[in-house]
Amino acid sequence: MTTEQEHHNLGSGRILREFIRSPMQTASVLPSSARLAAQMVVGIPERGEPVVVELGAGTGAFTSAIQQRLGGRGRHIVVELNGRFAAEIARAYPSVEVVCEDAVRLPDLLAELRVGPVDVVVSGLPWVAYAGRPPLIESVARVLSPAGVYTQFAYNWTRWAAPARRLLGGLRTEFEEVVTTMTVWRNLPPAVVYVSRRPRVVRAVGDGDQAR
Ligand SMILES: C[S@@+](CC[C@H](N)C(=O)[O-])C[C@H]1O[C@@H](n2cnc3c(N)ncnc32)[C@H](O)[C@@H]1O
Repeated sequence: MTTEQEHHNLGSGRILREFIRSPMQTASVLPSSARLAAQMVVGIPERGEPVVVELGAGTGAFTSAIQQRLGGRGRHIVVELNGRFAAEIARAYPSVEVVCEDAVRLPDLLAELRVGPVDVVVSGLPWVAYAGRPPLIESVARVLSPAGVYTQFAYNWTRWAAPARRLLGGLRTEFEEVVTTMTVWRNLPPAVVYVSRRPRVVRAVGDGDQAR
């Protein structure tokens, strides 16, 4: 692991321990690098009071980058299924609202927190989390504002596998624009980020469906 990959994390050994406990849910033995995190937060506006939702924070590789980009503005909500990760994120980042829940419940969770349309969703979730019904991508699109941005990464060496291609297809169905970044080589393993903008159907939390 590079020093950069160790940086901005609550402890790189933690993710390995959680992977041994629950490999499908944790899905990785290393936290993402600061370089990958920098690409993941590009959608966060530099002005105003954006609402940012982070899915699957793990040891906080993206949490740290989101907090830096927000610089005390807006609202940052983390949805993390693993209780140990959730507790550590809450302890390390007191201004972050941490919910220890399954991300499939996203629209309900945000309604419970009285969060309106979300500006940016940043996902560190593994493939298995997207396999449920209704598809998680659909729930993400529902909670975003009309100009909302969703970022998700994919490891280069698994990008062409069937589940990854299905995921990309889901993004193209739900969003008007899906841009793939250059490969971030300074990440183990190297990865790309899909930056998706403008959900095709805007369904604000608590409202009925509303085609644009
Ligand atoms: C691959 S790790 C990514 C951690 C971190 N974002 C990073 O890139 O280093 C995946 C994280 O998603 C969490 N997770 C998995 N399934 C989830 C779900 N259905 N809802 C919320 N979090 C989930 C895991 O507990 C783990 O912390």
